[in-house]
Parts: sequence; C-alpha cells; structure tokens
Amino acid sequence: MIKVSPSILSADFVNLERDIRRVSDADYLHVDVMDGAFVPNLTIGVPVVQSIRRCTDMFLDVHLMIEKPVRYIEAFAKAGADLLSIHLEADHPTRIAQALKVMGECGVKKAVALRPITKAEAILPYLEELDLVLVMTVEPGFGGQAFMESQLDTIRQVRALIERYNPACELEVDGGISPKTAPLVVEAGAEGLAAGDWVRLGLVGGREAAVVEEEREAEASGCRSGARLAEEALLLALADASGAASVRGAACPASSCGR
Ligand code: DX5
Ligand code: ZN
Repeated sequence: MIKVSPSILSADFVNLERDIRRVSDADYLHVDVMDGAFVPNLTIGVPVVQSIRRCTDMFLDVHLMIEKPVRYIEAFAKAGADLLSIHLEADHPTRIAQALKVMGECGVKKAVALRPITKAEAILPYLEELDLVLVMTVEPGFGGQAFMESQLDTIRQVRALIERYNPACELEVDGGISPKTAPLVVEAGAEGLAAGDWVRLGLVGGREAAVVEEEREAEASGCRSGARLAEEALLLALADASGAASVRGAACPASSCGR
C-alpha cells in the first residue's frame, strides 16, 4: 500500500493548523526539522512539534536534519513524534546506534535517512531494528527542488536489502515527488512518499493560482480538498502507471466545489 506523507515545509506557517487539517486524510504528516548546520536552512524545533501534536491525531513522521541527533531524541519523542528519522551522515555510527536505542526506550518508531551521496549498504548495521528507511531524492535542506533520477538505483538497492533482512521495514522517499516521479519511485520499490511542493500546488498542472482560488471556495463551503485533490492526483498517476494504488474517491458535497 502506498502511503502519502505531506510535508509541512510547504505549509503556510501562520496557518499551520488549517493546512494540517487540509491534509488530514493522508497517511502520515511529514515534519521537517532543520538546524542550519547539518543543512543550510532552519525550520522548526521541539515546541512546534508539541503544538502540532495538540492539533492533530495524524501520525507524525518527523525528519530530523540535524547534527548529533542523539541530543534531541527524547525531547522530540516527548513532544509527540510517532517516528523519528535521523541522518546516517549526522554523527559517528556509535552515536547513531545510541540514538536508535533511545528511540526504542521512548517508544517511537525508528528510521534512518540517507543523503543522495550515501550508499544503500550504510543502513546494514541498523536495518534489522528499523521501522523505516528514508531515501532522499534531493539534497536535504529545501522544498521544491528537482527530483534526482540517479537515486532510483539507491531505492532499488535499499528495497533489496529490506527484502533480505527486514521485510517489515518501510521505504519512504523524500524530495521532488510529483505524479510524474511517484510512479518511478514506486516501481523502484518505495511505498512511502513524502511530498511538499506537490501538495502545496494542488498539482493541477501547476495552476497554482487557480488551485488557491478553488481552495478558497472549497474552504468556504466546508470542503477540505486542496491536498486531498493532490493526493488523489498522485494516487491516480500511480494507478495509471503501475496499478499499485487504488483511488479513494470522495466527491465533495458542496456544489460550488464540483469535485
Ligand atoms: C527537503 C525536505 C523535504 C521537502 C520535500 O529537505 O526533507 O521533506 O519538504 O519537498 P518537495 O516535495 O517540494 O521536494
Ligand atoms: Zn523531509
């Protein structure tokens, strides 16, 4: 089953609760934490995750793009993360192992993330205890970047390792996901799709202004449809390309919405 994890990086942070509500039908909520050191960008920290937890029951898929993540595992777990992804490049392997141990003690799901430069085999020392592997299909740090097709090989290799050593582990990809690239990553073995820009645009042929207008109308008529529409567009693209997903159709009851 394909899981979609909209990224709050593409949300309007002043209207975060509204934007989270718009994607509440998705499987996970992808929360990008950046420290300005591991990546050249700053986003949010523990207090914002705490606030998000208070406003939604969604599964919080928290992607930590921070140096020495072991320092913050307990704090993010207490703040309400359901799953924490730490980057293999962010610390020495012994402290990566330590961070995963703390996740286990805190009762959060364990994931490691790979920058594009990192080889699939780097997950091997940890794979048997992981719940998810996150393969980056852009250089981490910013939303809206172009998908790196060269990462399809890494996805295939990670899929092969997962099948061999821990078939229950999920494989999520992150970066440049759209209806065009989603079928490629699913065909390569991904089942989780973190997506920022594509959800924000509503993905109706990039007609951003039109989508924003439609969202306004839809919101006024009580239809939560912007990201929903985007999710359906992706699921449709997936279904067309690989038969891998089924579309959960939901017609909007509001006549002005027309969906
Ligand atoms: C990038 C982040 C991504 C980002 C993806 O470093 O980890 O989660 O939100 O955004 P898009 O889908 O726009 O590439
Ligand atoms: Zn991310």
